[in-house]
Amino acid sequence: MKKQIPNTFNLAVYADDVITVESTEQLLSVYQQASKQNLPILILGEGSNTLFTENFSGIVVINRIRGISVMDNRDYWLIKVGAGEIWHHLVAHLIDNDIAGLENLALIPGCVGSAPIQNIGAYGVEFEKFADYVDLLSLKTGQIITVQDGKYGYRESIFKSQYREDYVVISVGIKLPKQWQPVLSYGELKNFDRETVTAKMVFDKVCEVRRSKLPDPNILGNGGSFFKNPVIDKIQYEQLVLDYPDMPAYFQSNGQVKLAAGWLIDQCGLKNYQIGGAAVHDKQALVLVNKDHAKAQDVVALAKVVKNTVQQKFGITLSPEIRFIGKQGEIDADLLLR
Ligand code: FAD
Ligand code: EPU
Repeated sequence: MKKQIPNTFNLAVYADDVITVESTEQLLSVYQQASKQNLPILILGEGSNTLFTENFSGIVVINRIRGISVMDNRDYWLIKVGAGEIWHHLVAHLIDNDIAGLENLALIPGCVGSAPIQNIGAYGVEFEKFADYVDLLSLKTGQIITVQDGKYGYRESIFKSQYREDYVVISVGIKLPKQWQPVLSYGELKNFDRETVTAKMVFDKVCEVRRSKLPDPNILGNGGSFFKNPVIDKIQYEQLVLDYPDMPAYFQSNGQVKLAAGWLIDQCGLKNYQIGGAAVHDKQALVLVNKDHAKAQDVVALAKVVKNTVQQKFGITLSPEIRFIGKQGEIDADLLLR
């Protein structure tokens, strides 16, 4: 009997087996069992950044290795978290205990183990700002290694390249300065007064803004931003801005310019555009939603239309943020949308 794979797109996709693990020993035992049967395995947190393009012919392992321990020294809170903890629970737990720093990253779905992989970010803060170390379990050797330099970039890290095959994130070290500096650079947060604002106020505001824009996957299936915000050269930007003077742009320290993919898609008039059961979200065009019993093919077909339309109108190539998983494991999302 095939088992349904949890995923926030709420797609009806199945694997040969879906097993929840709570320890590294269980993880290794499932891996050995899968190897004997010659089946691929796929580690999953909450499936909130994953599009299953078809059923998975292997074993899905749900990581629920838990535990939050907090230590400190004179200047820092040093927090060690099991990879299977829910990210938002960690943020809320720390805020409740007067440990500030992660409030801008409130309400991001998924597990703590996925945060360094994707270098999650929102409201002016990225995970890397507070990254201390990541513990990885090698499934092949059973050894645990600690990586301090995650080589983080925009939704990028070494865990997506060098440590992709056979390594599982089992715990994450986070380092938060006791001297709290609020980050109030993004959108609605600008209205706060630096002198009086508290981390709880930022936390509450971030939750409020996110709830107003982003669909709750329990109500409307989705995987957050479907595409990354494109980063282009200054010369290309200067050409585009002549035609679109209102285009949002974020200037990068290396001279490049990051554009808002949601704005580009919105300008193409694609909000609410639907193929089969999949649609462009009406409040945030960067989010593709499962509106009505969508099939994976509907989402892929819709993503192709979005990508091609933006390409034709602006000459900009969008690249998926979401990771695509096929029958045997991860597949090249850019190639599939070509
Ligand atoms: P999954 O989808 O379960 O896994 C993602 C990938 O990592 C898969 O390839 C999986 O195989 C691999 N993986 C998972 N766990 C491990 C592990 N322990 N070891 C090795 N590999 C592993 N992201 C942002 O950055 N900012 C946002 O503001 C944001 N908002 C979102 C809003 C919504 C409504 C949704 C649905 C998503 C949003 N996301 C956002 C994307 C998503 O929440 C993050 O990427 C999150 O970190 C994914 O966590 P997950 O545990 O669900 O990952
Ligand atoms: N915009 C539109 N129309 C739309 C959507 C956006 O005009 O339909 C405009 C907005 O008005 C704004 C700009 O585009 O001027 C950017 O929009 P927004 O602030 O909503 O952020 P985003 O760039 O679409 C990014 C992250 C989100 C993160 C938010 C907040 C990426 C790919 N996405 O979205 O992360 O929550 O900023 O910091 O970088 C995710 O990664 O899954 C995710 C949701």
